[in-house]
Amino acid sequence: MLSNLKAQPADKILALMAMYREDPRPTKIDLGVGVYKNAQGVTPVMRAVKAAERRLVEEQTSKAYVGLAGDPAYSDAMISLILSDAVSRDRIAAAATPGGTGAVRQAFELIRNTNPNAKVWVSNPTWPNHVSILNYLNIQNTTYRYFDSETRGVDFDGMLEDLSEASAGDVVLLHGCCHNPTGANLNLTQWQTVIDLLNEKGLIPMIDIAYQGFGDGLEEDAAATRLVTSSVPECLIAASCSKNFGVYRERTGLFMAISEKADNTAVTQGNLNHLNRQNFSFPPDHGARVVTTILTDDALRADWASELEDTRLSMLGLREQLASELQRLSGSDRFGFLAQHRGMFSQLGTTPDLVEKLRADYGIYMVSDSRLNIAGLNATTVPILANAIVESGI
Ligand code: LMR
Repeated sequence: MLSNLKAQPADKILALMAMYREDPRPTKIDLGVGVYKNAQGVTPVMRAVKAAERRLVEEQTSKAYVGLAGDPAYSDAMISLILSDAVSRDRIAAAATPGGTGAVRQAFELIRNTNPNAKVWVSNPTWPNHVSILNYLNIQNTTYRYFDSETRGVDFDGMLEDLSEASAGDVVLLHGCCHNPTGANLNLTQWQTVIDLLNEKGLIPMIDIAYQGFGDGLEEDAAATRLVTSSVPECLIAASCSKNFGVYRERTGLFMAISEKADNTAVTQGNLNHLNRQNFSFPPDHGARVVTTILTDDALRADWASELEDTRLSMLGLREQLASELQRLSGSDRFGFLAQHRGMFSQLGTTPDLVEKLRADYGIYMVSDSRLNIAGLNATTVPILANAIVESGI
């Protein structure tokens, strides 16, 4: 049986992680996988996370199963963090999932179960695993124009033109904030135009929100998701705590499904529970409990929000430093977009060959689509990167 297996294509982000690890050059710079690193190159455990973990060690009395959807207190805390009061709670079904990827996977399976004819529209480009999971599940999918590689901003006209081809019942996957991989985001006026199109054509939004707090701030980064959910009848949301709580390996995510009417929520919730049961039974608990402990304790929450804000500001500072260094070295403003983009990533908009040149000649690792993780830089490596970019003719 096992000898019949065929080799699977490598995930390009994870393959890059392995290549970086094996590179013996001491000057190598990792701008690949989306993990925050501080100025010392360390991915720290956040202070509030450590404190919540200590509290759990002392106070937790049982590791018995909780429920198929996880602890309702976790869902409540996350719904309030992301949606505030944009949607009445009785319209929302929610289930804890293994990370944001787990939430994406459950959302896609729910779509397939309820409407096998639905096509899922993803931005071009999007996080590669979106397309990979859609294909794995045999769900029809297609792209809408999103990134303008000339301006390195959003090709908004192209996006609207493509989405106007979608059919009623199709699902449009949108990044709530901090678009991955490009770093280019819609403004709220553009979001409103997208909402009008969704409503006019009967399209269902699915929002992937994995970087709340990494762009313009915790509230600001949730504004688009709140606007969408308060303006459409139905919405699916895949949320991740990996980045904003720094609990990557704990696999802490939430899948939310918002029904038009509250009397549909119990059945929807039952479907979410069923999906969890079929795929992995009970979701991981530790990360979710840490997040709940933080969000429901005023002091821990304030400390977490302040550390997250420092993280956000350090990434913004690196963006500005890189943009101005590039301006100085290239004598042009063509890299100004780096300071405009938000979140962990920016897409340089260059060719895979030049990305490979950066890796081979300078030991600088970024994803072949020219996505770079801003948080992989520090004040010392920014000039090294800027120099390599200009020297290699990007
Ligand atoms: C990324 O985009 O680098 C992260 O979300 C990590 C991953 O799982 O790909």
